[in-house]
Amino acid sequence: MDRKGGEKIAMVTAHDYLTARLAERGGADAVLVGDSLAMVALGHPDTLAVTMEEMLHHTRAVARGVERALLIGDMPFMSYQASVEEAVRNAGRFVKEGGAQAVKLEGGREYLPQIRAILKAGIPVMGHLGLLPQRAALESGFRVQGRRAQDAREIIREAEELAAAGIFALVLECVPREVAALVTQRVPCPVIGIGAGPDCDGQVLVLADLLGLYERLKPRFVRQYAELGQAGAEAVARFVRDVREGTFPGPEESYSMPREEKKALHALLGME
Ligand code: KIV
Repeated sequence: MDRKGGEKIAMVTAHDYLTARLAERGGADAVLVGDSLAMVALGHPDTLAVTMEEMLHHTRAVARGVERALLIGDMPFMSYQASVEEAVRNAGRFVKEGGAQAVKLEGGREYLPQIRAILKAGIPVMGHLGLLPQRAALESGFRVQGRRAQDAREIIREAEELAAAGIFALVLECVPREVAALVTQRVPCPVIGIGAGPDCDGQVLVLADLLGLYERLKPRFVRQYAELGQAGAEAVARFVRDVREGTFPGPEESYSMPREEKKALHALLGME
């Protein structure tokens, strides 16, 4: 991952084999098994409830669909916060059991010990600053971060500290574009924005948002490239109608026995 002036990096989330195939076929550079799967794949109101086991289950499915893109596993709430040892063990599980090539974790300098230890174990780490959904669900709510100069300076400093620790890339979520531009200028690693304006080294979107599949929440920063939710619901409605009207399946969607075999069967059943 090395934008900094080269071609912009495009990353999407994927939560299962089908969405991994869409990401791969669409040419995404990186695929993140984001903990947003708690919401868009499992129906939770926020990202807190998803477990390591669930993340691994979905990461394995995504890994089966990804051939070329970089596969990153997102460390879920309480998989790295409690201790450095737990963080390293769980990061290792993403690689060994999930097939991920790197992990992402939310948070700033308070997690530098975890980040350093995971890196020491040989696992690349992607940072995540700005709006932190795991924390927002408990504390501040889903709001733009770094609007005030002091807060913006804090985000920039933390980005520099994470970069100095050795993260290979940084997700910057929901910050003013001016702040994202400064972070992008100042840190050596690629900065992947989501709701962070156009000046980052790359952009990430949750695939379900991009495809118009998730109906509960639509942040301002989402650009919807398809209406698959609407198209899918209409397709199901047509199927329901056809089943009820008896027009599905038709002859072209049904199998038939050879005429003689049908005759023989009727004879066997004493139907003649
Ligand atoms: O979980 C997720 O999908 C993410 C992206 C919003 C970057 O962390």
